[in-house]
Amino acid sequence: MKKLVIVGGIGNGAVALSTVVDINNSEDGYNTWEVLGFLNDSEDKAQVEGFPWLGPIESSSMQRLRARKDVYFVWTLFSTRLRQDMAGRLLGLGIEREKWATLVHPTAVVSRFAEIGQGVIMHAQSSIGPAASLGDHVQMFNQTYVGHNTRVGNYSFLANGAHVSSFVTLEEGAYLGMSCAVREFVKIGQWATVGMGAVVLEDVEPHTTVVGIPAKEINRRG
Ligand SMILES: CC(C)(COP(=O)(O)OP(=O)(O)OC[C@H]1O[C@@H](n2cnc3c(N)ncnc32)[C@H](O)[C@@H]1OP(=O)(O)O)[C@@H](O)C(=O)NCCC(=O)NCCS
Repeated sequence: MKKLVIVGGIGNGAVALSTVVDINNSEDGYNTWEVLGFLNDSEDKAQVEGFPWLGPIESSSMQRLRARKDVYFVWTLFSTRLRQDMAGRLLGLGIEREKWATLVHPTAVVSRFAEIGQGVIMHAQSSIGPAASLGDHVQMFNQTYVGHNTRVGNYSFLANGAHVSSFVTLEEGAYLGMSCAVREFVKIGQWATVGMGAVVLEDVEPHTTVVGIPAKEINRRG
């Protein structure tokens, strides 16, 4: 079994763990991963579903784990602020790209003509079409859909039920809330946020938040 450390904690960390368990119980992925535990900066050092807290993200225990050839990592964070912060810290951790595990749930549907980066998590019943691509550290939650010829940038996050049409571009770090829909050929700028239930018909500027049907901007960060 390959050893896995989940960077994250209660909440999304447990969701990642759940997908790992399903992979391990599947015919194709039978016993692929041995989960060693969780790395996070939590002050209460909580276990997650009985798996131990291994230490803060920048710590000597992280450095020991990083030095081991048999240990892989996956990173799972939800909020845009935390993901943006972590994207910067990831480089500093010095983990080789191939040591970021890509986890694809056994019920996910991946076109054989799609490309998937390192550190990606595709949860249950997520789906990606032909000629589409997911950058590194993209998270697709349950029942999300990425249409053909759509490009999803590094660190993007698709919450449950988000549907993205074809020929769409999600730039780095884009966040799509639950059950939103994005029309074909639209571009979502980097670290932009689409609110739950929104229907996006036009391009979204970087670092902005849009909500509603049709989606309209509610604020913009510097
Ligand atoms: C869009 C979002 C990020 C905005 O959060 P926020 O910046 O804290 O904004 P607020 O809650 O202060 O709301 C600001 C305004 O937008 C409205 N609004 C917020 N979210 C909305 C949404 N999804 N659709 C329509 N209107 C929304 C609020 O009613 C409020 O309107 P008002 O100014 O007229 O009172 C958030 O509401 C959202 O949709 N998050 C996604 C949640 C999700 O999908 N979670 C998945 C977990 S796996």
